[in-house]
Amino acid sequence: MTQKTIRNLSKRGHKTVKQLPKAPEQGASYWIDSPNGKREFTHPLFKFPAKFHPPIVRWAIDTFYEDGVILDPFMGSGTVQVEALAKGIDSIGIDVDPIAIYISKVKSTPIEPETLKKEFEVLKRALSNKIELHSKVEKIEGGDISVRKFNVEKNRLPIPPIPNIPHWFRLYVIIDLAQILKTIDSVKIRNKSRDFFKACFASIIRRVSNAEPGTVSGLEVTSIQSKKNKTRKISVYKTFFSKVESEIQNMAELWKASKKSADNVSVNIFSGNVNDILKKKKSFEDVSLIITSPPYCRAVEYSRRHYLEMYWLKFVKSQDEQVSLTHTYIGRKLVRRLDWD
Ligand SMILES: C[S@@+](CC[C@H](N)C(=O)[O-])C[C@H]1O[C@@H](n2cnc3c(N)ncnc32)[C@H](O)[C@@H]1O
Repeated sequence: MTQKTIRNLSKRGHKTVKQLPKAPEQGASYWIDSPNGKREFTHPLFKFPAKFHPPIVRWAIDTFYEDGVILDPFMGSGTVQVEALAKGIDSIGIDVDPIAIYISKVKSTPIEPETLKKEFEVLKRALSNKIELHSKVEKIEGGDISVRKFNVEKNRLPIPPIPNIPHWFRLYVIIDLAQILKTIDSVKIRNKSRDFFKACFASIIRRVSNAEPGTVSGLEVTSIQSKKNKTRKISVYKTFFSKVESEIQNMAELWKASKKSADNVSVNIFSGNVNDILKKKKSFEDVSLIITSPPYCRAVEYSRRHYLEMYWLKFVKSQDEQVSLTHTYIGRKLVRRLDWD
């Protein structure tokens, strides 16, 4: 089935509308596409599982917002923050997931696109003598470098301590990813741009890994994926560069929209367990509207889903750290007796 057929089938039984009505009919079901398809602000920057459909957030703001601050206590990838910012409204977001925090900050920090383009050129120049390093092997289906070559090349590169890392990535992919990360970290550019490039970097990790890209709930190298991997060709640099190029265009949209609104809109992001953070009552006094989509029980194991990205971005440095972070998420499959309350 083509994407178009799937889309038309899923639309069946729903009323297709351009804008959700302020007072939806009881029991009615609506279908709404993003006005500009996928290219809308910074929403597509990271494939975040169970992400809000932006028009729903837009509808909620248009329908319920009067004044004050909007809160999303389970912010995820910051859809509410981006939409609020584009409308010139202050917002607060909370999340326990370090990738959610990082991505949301980047997505809701407008950067002037021309500056971003220039800094991207600086980054590309700094990477230029590395791009060809694996160009031969990446043209071979399922190709890779030898362990001996890997051991020589990995010298002084920031390779994350992911247990059994060759299970998750081809060896040359590890080298290319580490080289890109090292260069983003060391090149002379503004920190805002550095974070933007690093968020783009995070967003390609899964795509260039051996793991099944589609699984929403977790992270696995399935047997079907292993079979596909045997004939796959992977170019880390191409994937990274094309991601940055398309995200610069998306950032330009956010830049335009946020320029139209008030200059000093605040996006306040808190990292940690919502149960602890909401106790800081003072920060939430101005909240007048909450728009959220909570973590549904056993639906997505975010800590598992973002396992590779968290190691690469150094948010976790060991298995112990990863496991203790896992226990702070709501909705996970296994709950320790001591967390039950
Ligand atoms: C369904 S997602 C939200 C997606 C979001 N609406 C978006 O558009 O990207 C639920 C979020 O709840 C977060 N979460 C789970 N347990 C949490 C906790 N204890 N405190 C704060 N956030 C938590 C998860 O990390 C996840 O990002």
